Formats: sequence, structure tokens, C-alpha cells
Amino acid sequence: MSKTTEPTRRKFLKSSASIAAVGPVFMPHLANAANKDVILKVGLVGCGGRGTGAASQAMNADPNVRLVAMGDMFDDRIDNSWRSLQGRGKERFDVKPQNKFIGFDAYKKVIDMVDVVILTTPPLFRPQHLEYAVSQKKHVFFEKPVAVDPTGVRKVIEMAAKAKAQNTAMMSGFCWRYHYPKREVFQRVLDGAIGDIRTAYTTYNTGPVWKKPRQEGWSDWEAQIRNWTGYTWLSGDSIVEQAVHSLDMARWALGDRVPVRAVGTGGRETYDSLDKWGNIFDHFGVTYEFEEGVRLFHFSRQQSGTSGSYECEVHGTKGLCSGKNRHSITGDEDWRFRGKSNDMYQTEHNELFASIRQGQPINDGERAAHSTLLAILGRTVAYTGKSVTWEQALNSKEDLRPPHYDLGQKLPVAPVAIPGVTKFV
Ligand SMILES: NC(=O)c1ccc[n+]([C@@H]2O[C@H](COP(=O)([O-])OP(=O)(O)OC[C@H]3O[C@@H](n4cnc5c(N)ncnc54)[C@H](O)[C@@H]3O)[C@@H](O)[C@H]2O)c1
Repeated sequence: MSKTTEPTRRKFLKSSASIAAVGPVFMPHLANAANKDVILKVGLVGCGGRGTGAASQAMNADPNVRLVAMGDMFDDRIDNSWRSLQGRGKERFDVKPQNKFIGFDAYKKVIDMVDVVILTTPPLFRPQHLEYAVSQKKHVFFEKPVAVDPTGVRKVIEMAAKAKAQNTAMMSGFCWRYHYPKREVFQRVLDGAIGDIRTAYTTYNTGPVWKKPRQEGWSDWEAQIRNWTGYTWLSGDSIVEQAVHSLDMARWALGDRVPVRAVGTGGRETYDSLDKWGNIFDHFGVTYEFEEGVRLFHFSRQQSGTSGSYECEVHGTKGLCSGKNRHSITGDEDWRFRGKSNDMYQTEHNELFASIRQGQPINDGERAAHSTLLAILGRTVAYTGKSVTWEQALNSKEDLRPPHYDLGQKLPVAPVAIPGVTKFV
């Protein structure tokens, strides 16, 4: 379990007192970031729901943070987020109108201006944005999933090594890792409370996610980017975009190991139109095989009118852990989490900024890339209908990036995958 580095209220007060004495210092060079009096300039790329939340959490995390730049593909998205954050951030919000950037290269303009960048666009763009941020030696918070294909996963692994070497942060948005009840219950599993782990079972069964009806004047590109969750090239499909959270929890309980291979199934029954739903599947069932016969069984779906379930159960030789909702252990000694829960999103940013201030920036990039690949492997076995090994997935040539980025272009929706016909690449 990672050490809690959440700054205490006392530390905040101490640092505010020293600011009052000497005044804030605007000195963006990262070598100085550990100095609590130095202002850290933060930028946001992808000003939707999660980005707006993450920027707000960043502004709450440290008294000397200033949000100074925002970038998005569309001006209505940036303006809504700008208004919301202006109200929440008070003096920590300092985004001048000229520092709002629009379009495919907005990320570069934001990253150039800041010390810490929050990357919360649809995940297709993540490896590209991350590569630029790391090459500019910026600290990064980047949302899950961290890529949509193995080409992107390999780039993230490469960037994680580079960030480690230059001592810059690379924190992913696998937010349950910052949830106190889960930290406690999974640490008990890792400490042997249920004996040797034999199987894990995870679900993410829910209804369809939001859809924005196509408006007059939207190009094909705009329609797809505005509804990015429905398109495999932009989101990675629902198992990668959404259910990756429950797969990441299972990996955590399994000691962050990777599987040997996976087999699975999937398809779409309720997503009945490409125009309305895009080309993703609406259900997946995947079995992951690990060394020593350990199995992880995963089920997820997005179908209205069905029973919901978001679970992570781990079965061991001596007992059972319910890791998602009940946070309990049934075994030699029964146990249930009775402590205080927390706002994991806020804790995430508190720990990120504290780690930067301590000169030991958090870097979970490789772990996040592996959890993302676990979900991509699940999609791959469902799409192809074949058994695929972890090594094959890691070395796959699949690359979902379009050859050109052009909002005005025509972009027919790619066909839905067909198990047995869709090929592994
Ligand atoms: N950790 C969590 O619990 C959690 C919760 C929600 C979302 N997320 C993740 O956060 C990311 C964003 O999700 P969201 O719900 O905020 O989506 P959203 O659609 O609300 O926001 C995405 C924003 O990115 C913008 N955008 C698209 N392409 C862009 C580009 N190339 N450059 C700049 N901006 C671009 C869009 O216009 C939009 O404003 C996704 O990866 C999602 O999986 C994580």
C-alpha cells in the first residue's frame, strides 16, 4: 500500500503563515517546486466533467496553486468549465481570457505555460499529450484509461520511465487507489488475510452513458468527439473507458501482477444504431488466467433496464474479500471497514501536490499502463473471439489513431467488431 502523504491542515497553516511573511514567489522552474512558497502554475487540457472536477481539486490541494491556462476542442466546453472554476477557485483561479486555448494543438499552448498539467480529454489523445508534457519536464495528472490501444500503452510506459529519470510526477486517475476503505481492505488481502488468492470476480454493470444528439452543423468528427464514449478509437470501448476501474481494483488485490492470457466474449444487443450509439459493444465477459491457476472473472455491460453491479470480490484459500461496496473480509478473522471514508478525488490531488512539494513526485505511470492494457486485452479477446496472451497484447501493432486530425473531415463510423471475423493485429 502506498504511504499516505496527504498534507495535514497543520502543514497548510504553517505554509500559509510563511507566505504571509514573505509573499508568494512566482518561479515556475521545477527545481524550486519543493519550496512551498513557490507558486505552482496548473493547466487543464480537456475541460469536461472530470477535468473541471480535477482542476477544482488541484486548486484545493495546495495554497500556492494557481490555475492559469485551459485548453479544449470546443469553446462552449471551455467557457462552461471556466465559469464553474472561476466561482470555485477564488484567488487560486487565474485563467486570463487570452489563456483559454481551442483546437487540436491547445494542449501544447497550455503545457508550455505551466508547471503541472491535468490531462482529461478522451483517452485517444492521452499518450500524445503525455509525451509532450513529459518532454517539457512538466508534472502530470492524467486520467484513466491512459491509452486506447497497445501502441499508446507502450508510449505511456516509455514516458513513465522518462518521468522517473527526471523526477517529474506522473499520477494517473485510478482514483480508487486513494480511497481509504479500499486501501485498508486490499492491504489486508495483500498481508494474507484470506490466504493464497485463487480467484477474483469483478463487475461494472450499468446503463448506457450520456449521449449528445447530433446537432446541425456538426461535422462527422465533431459528432464523434462530442460523443467520444461510443467510439472505440476515442474511448477504447466501455471495458477500457469505464470497467477498467474494477479491473484495476482486482490487479491491486492480486499484487499488481499481470495475466498470462485471456479468453472472452462480448457483443451488442441494445446498442442498435451506429448513429446513436457509435460502434462499441454493450457487454463483455472475460476470463483472465494468471500464473499458478489463479483466475480473474470479469463481467461488464451498459444496458438499460438491467441489474446494476460494481463489485470486486477476491476469493482466497482461507476466506473472501468484498472490496468494492462492503469492504469486508470473511475468513479466520472476520473484519469490516468501520473507519472514516474520504473524498478520493481530493485525496488524490492532495497527495500529488504534497509529493511534488516533498521533491518525491508520485509516478504510477507503468502500473496505470498495465491496468489499461488488462482492459484492452479484454476488449481484444471479445472482439476477435480468440485467446490472446499478455505478451501478444503488449506487442500488438494495433494503433487506433487516425492518420490526420481534421475536425472538418468526413469520418464514417467504423464497423462493429465481429468475434471470429475481426482479426488480432
Ligand atoms: N477517474 C474517474 O473516476 C473518472 C470519472 C470520469 C471520467 N474519467 C475520465 O476522464 C476523461 C474525460 O472524461 P469526461 O467525463 O470529463 O469527458 P467529457 O466529455 O466531459 O470531457 C472531455 C473534454 O475533452 C475535450 N476534448 C476532446 N478532445 C480534445 C483534444 N484533442 N484536446 C483538448 N480537449 C479535447 C472535450 O471537448 C471535452 O470538453 C476520460 O478519460 C474518462 O474516462 C475518469
